[in-house]
Amino acid sequence: MTTEHTVIVVSADEALIAQCQQGLAKSEDYRVVVCADDKEAARRLDSMQVHLLIYDVPAGTDAANNLVTSARLSHPQVARIVLGAQDAHALAAQVARNAAAFLFVLKPVFCEQVELTAKRALELNELSRRHRVLSRELKISVDDNIFDEAEQSSLKGGVSQFERLVYVSPAMAELVAEAKQAAATDLPVLIFGETGTGKELLARAIHYNSGRMDTPLYVQNCGGMSQDMLHSELFGHVRGAFTGAVADRLGLFRAADGGTVFLDELTEISPSFQVSLLRFLQEGEVKPLGSDKMYHANVRVLAAYNRPLAELVEKGEFRRDLYYRLKGFELHIPALRERPEDIPVLTDFFIEKYAGVVGRRVVGVTKDVIAKLRAYQFPGNVRELEAEIRRMVALAEQGGYISRRHLPRNIADVSVEPPAGDGAYAIEGDTLKEMVESLEKRVVMETLTRHRWNQSKAADELGLSRVGLANKIKRYNLQDVA
Ligand SMILES: Nc1ncnc2c1ncn2[C@@H]1O[C@H](COP(=O)(O)OP(=O)(O)OP(=O)(O)O)[C@@H](O)[C@H]1O
Ligand SMILES: [Mg+2]
Repeated sequence: MTTEHTVIVVSADEALIAQCQQGLAKSEDYRVVVCADDKEAARRLDSMQVHLLIYDVPAGTDAANNLVTSARLSHPQVARIVLGAQDAHALAAQVARNAAAFLFVLKPVFCEQVELTAKRALELNELSRRHRVLSRELKISVDDNIFDEAEQSSLKGGVSQFERLVYVSPAMAELVAEAKQAAATDLPVLIFGETGTGKELLARAIHYNSGRMDTPLYVQNCGGMSQDMLHSELFGHVRGAFTGAVADRLGLFRAADGGTVFLDELTEISPSFQVSLLRFLQEGEVKPLGSDKMYHANVRVLAAYNRPLAELVEKGEFRRDLYYRLKGFELHIPALRERPEDIPVLTDFFIEKYAGVVGRRVVGVTKDVIAKLRAYQFPGNVRELEAEIRRMVALAEQGGYISRRHLPRNIADVSVEPPAGDGAYAIEGDTLKEMVESLEKRVVMETLTRHRWNQSKAADELGLSRVGLANKIKRYNLQDVA
C-alpha cells in the first residue's frame, strides 16, 4: 500500500489501545487517532479523511444509537470493525449487526490480529470502491453515452482530497499546498472566502494536520452577539462581573490551552475586542472580565472572514497591527464559480454521500445537468451545491440518473453557452422529445428576434400560421425582451 490511511480507535480500554497502536505501528502507512468517546470520534469523522473505524463497544451502549451505527450512514466509505467484552458479547454483537461491521471480535485482541484485520478491511473497502466505479462506468457506456469526457475522468481518479475537502482544480490544489505548509507551523492563519466555500472545513483540516491534532478544535463565531458576551466567551469572567454572571467562567482560550481556536466572522469584532485579541496573540495573556488576575494560555488562532479585511484595514475599521499579527498565512478559497472544474467531482462526492444516507442508488447525473451546474453562479458556493444535490438525490428514481427535470427552476433556467461553431445550437434535454423541444424553442425565439417580434413575418418564415406561432410563444413562454 502506498497511500496513508487514518484509523480511528474508539476505546477507553488502555490494553486494547496499546495493542492497536502496536499493531498499526508496524506499517508507516497508518495514522492512528485514539478517541475516548463517541462525541470525540464524531468530531474527528467530520474533520478528517478517515478510512477505518475500530469501535470498542462501551458498557451500557444503546445498540441502535451509537457512533459506529450512525457512521454506517453518515460515512459509508469508512470501514468498520466492532470489538466487545466477553461478558457483554450479546450487546456488542447487536451493535456489530446494526453497524454492518466488517468484522466482530471479542477482546482481548493482540497486535498481530489488529494489523492483519486492518489490512484486510482496508483492502476490501478499496475493492468495493473500485467495483462501484467500474460498474458505474459500465452502466454509463451502456446507457447511450450521456456522460461527457470531463465527467468520466472524475470517476476514474485525479480527484484530490485534503481531509474532507474534495477538489480537482489547480486553484484548490495550490491552496491546499499552502494550507499544508501552514499546518506544519504554529503560526496564525487567516482564511478568506465567500459564504459556503469551505472555510471551516479548511480550518479543521489544518488543525488536524498540525502538531496540536490531539486536542479538539474549539470554534467561536464572532458575529451575532454583543462584544461583552464574546469577551466573556473567550476570556472568561468572574462571578458578578455583570448581571447574570452567576458563576465563574473559564473562557475558551484557557480551555483550549495547548490547542487551537477557530474564530469565525473575524471582521465582526469591535475595536476594544481587537485590543484584547492583539494582547492575547502577543503575550498569551488572558484577563477574565471583572478579574484583576492575569492568566496565560498557549493557543493557536485560525480565523475566517468573508469581507475584505485588507480594505477594512485601509478604512481604519480593523487594526493594522492585529491584521499583521494574524496573517502568518493568508489563504483565499476561490468561489465555486471561479473553479467550475470542481463542480462535477463535488457533485459525484455529494451523490455518494446522500445516496448512502437515504438508502438510494443513484447512477450519476446527466451531461446537461452538469452543464447547467457549471454555468450557474452559485452565490451560496459549495454549501448551495451540496443542498441541491441532496434534494435531487431524494427525488431521483432508484437506480436512475439525476436529470434536468430534477433541477430547480433557477438552475434549469441558466443559459448554457452553445459550443463554438457557426449557428450551432446546444441541444438540451434527456429524451428526444425534450431535445426537439429545446431546439424548437430556440429557433422560434431567434426568428422572432430577427423580425423584431413581427409575428406575421416570423410565422411566414417558419411556415406556421399566426395562431400556430402564438401557440408556440405561449407554450414556451417566450417574451420580447429587447
Ligand atoms: N471542497 C469541498 N469538498 C467537500 N465539501 C465541501 C467543500 N467545500 C465545502 N464543502 C461543504 O460545504 C458546506 C459549507 O462548508 P463550510 O461550513 O466549511 O463553509 P464556510 O466557508 O465556513 O461557510 P460560511 O461562510 O457560511 O460559514 C459544508 O457542508 C462542507 O462540508
Ligand atoms: Mg463557516
